Amino acid sequence: MNSAATSPAASGQALDDFIAGLPKTELHLHIEGTLEPELMFALAQRNQVKLPYASVEALRAAYDFSDLQSFLDLYYAGADVLRTEQDFYDMTAAYIERARADNVRHAEIFFDPQTHTERGIAMTTVFAGIARALRDARLKDGFGSAMILCFLRHLSEEDAFATLEQALPLREQYADLWIGIGLDSSERGNPPEKFARVYGRCRELGFRLVAHAGEEGPAAYVSSALDLLKVERIDHGVRSEEDPALMQRLARERIALTVCPLSNLKLCVVKDMAEHNIARLLDAGLAVTVNSDDPAYFGGYMTANYQAVARALDLSREQVLQLARNGIEACFLPGEDKLALTAELEQYAAAH
Ligand code: ADE
Ligand code: ZN
Repeated sequence: MNSAATSPAASGQALDDFIAGLPKTELHLHIEGTLEPELMFALAQRNQVKLPYASVEALRAAYDFSDLQSFLDLYYAGADVLRTEQDFYDMTAAYIERARADNVRHAEIFFDPQTHTERGIAMTTVFAGIARALRDARLKDGFGSAMILCFLRHLSEEDAFATLEQALPLREQYADLWIGIGLDSSERGNPPEKFARVYGRCRELGFRLVAHAGEEGPAAYVSSALDLLKVERIDHGVRSEEDPALMQRLARERIALTVCPLSNLKLCVVKDMAEHNIARLLDAGLAVTVNSDDPAYFGGYMTANYQAVARALDLSREQVLQLARNGIEACFLPGEDKLALTAELEQYAAAH
């Protein structure tokens, strides 16, 4: 072994390579957040939608966010180019290509029907386009996936109920994919309790339940998502650290947090990646996972998210591996599929 191979830079490169090949699960991914500027422009042209940006470069340059809301304003505006089933298909197929390149084996994908039905796009169009791409990918090489329908929390609970009613007739047709319910959009001022009744109904219907909480909102939103919405996983949850009793509960009950490092940096949840608390959460025994949230807007997909935290926090190979193990533990696959993925992961670790 030459001396360069043992230098810090070389070992950083070795960890980057290890991360790139690691079999991964993705549990926090908004499909509308995968719409890259190039595809957004292509769809705008196809559908004769005028974008308020002169070029792909000008659009990318606008991705300079100060908080969650400043991002959401652009994200909802960008989604306006999605009009037909083929548009939803193309967006989803493009994401799958990126995910495959990052060795993602299984992705549980959020979609926001209200963003589209509010604009007059049919619920069936949204489901059909996303599901066709996921099914094609499954047939092609076994790419695993599931769909999680998210309610927009800045809208009313009544609107969420109406959305659920609109989607339920499609449940059987998409039973192989649509497994869960989530809650996203503007967190502050829209606490989990606003959606307690509709979550109660979704629970009766047998959906797996998750919710965004503790991204910009306080740790109390994480507790109420658990107690009132009865979610199984928390999306983000980084502010849980502000409540020691909650931290103990999350560790004891192995309630997973789907953390999104590059998102947290871009939305100013953390000032610097070196200040991210994911390593502390991991060390406290929480089932933290790494995810990409809205990768087209935040500058990186799964591998980039892992590499960014590994570098900034000087994570060990074992810590990286534990994050990947947590991702398998926290996913909604049946036990035998989790075992198979775990075996693949451990085999990879032993061989690299
Ligand atoms: N919708 C898309 N990305 C989101 C995020 N990071 N938080 C809340 N809502 C979202
Ligand atoms: Zn999110």
